[in-house]
Amino acid sequence: MTAKVEALGYVGLEVSDLAAWRDFAAGQLGLQWAPRDDGTVDIRLDSHAIRIRIHEGPRDDLAYAGWEVRDAGALEELHDRLAAKGIAVERASADAADRRVLDLIRFPDPEGNVHEAYYGPLQRTDRPFVSPTGARFKTGAQGLGHIVLACRDKAVMLGFFQDVLGFRISDHIRTEVIPGRPLEISFLRCNGRHHSLALAPVPIPKKIVHLMVETTSIDEVGRAMHRCMAAGTHLSFTLGRHSNDNMLSFYPLSPSGFDIEYGWGGLEVEDESWHVLTHESNSAWGHIFQRPPRPSKPASN
Ligand SMILES: [Fe+2]
Repeated sequence: MTAKVEALGYVGLEVSDLAAWRDFAAGQLGLQWAPRDDGTVDIRLDSHAIRIRIHEGPRDDLAYAGWEVRDAGALEELHDRLAAKGIAVERASADAADRRVLDLIRFPDPEGNVHEAYYGPLQRTDRPFVSPTGARFKTGAQGLGHIVLACRDKAVMLGFFQDVLGFRISDHIRTEVIPGRPLEISFLRCNGRHHSLALAPVPIPKKIVHLMVETTSIDEVGRAMHRCMAAGTHLSFTLGRHSNDNMLSFYPLSPSGFDIEYGWGGLEVEDESWHVLTHESNSAWGHIFQRPPRPSKPASN
């Protein structure tokens, strides 16, 4: 397969509380908050003009995932493959300037999540990335990080991402992330990052389970965790080290009710030599699930 996606380039999030997100993303996680004239916000992690696009709205969920391809030829080839498979792919060149890319296409996966593929992301080396906390993030050829999507029929979703978009399976984890709920999560890569996408058959009301960003320093993970704790942000999973990609991370609950995984030390995979593995534990240590606090009851008269 010559034309395939090569990185998670950006994600669009629809969030209901912009002010809370600003405090969370910039103040606690150290991401750069860059408001736009149209009321949306770009969150930057590196030289790319956009890595996370924040839209104000009621859904508090993933709006779209943007996948980077190499060039115009790869985008055209991917478009034609999607169309040949009967997938409702649309040319979305009119939105390219808004996404700060040269061209893009838009298409659904088998469960209706919106995806975009694009090439030519705008680089802002003239306005360098500045973290409000001094954090730096591992991106480059490995892209923004990874997303975990909730799914109903994992076999169908795995087929789509492998056969149509060119992902390869790194491994599967058969475990109980939450005690009493066994499940198998599958991890897929499109570059040297162990996974840019994972599929979790979990019955949750949101499309996204979590978005992972990776720092370049273990100290940044510790500092961010303590900023979250000081701010009273709930940690859905405590500090831990994942069994499969070695990521040392913790999971603060975002103001939209899905998690951010904030990590360091993720495994790089050699595509030519990697063999599919399985695990029976989500983590080598830590990552203890903590139930979210119950909403406080209204005071009775
Ligand atoms: Fe993750």
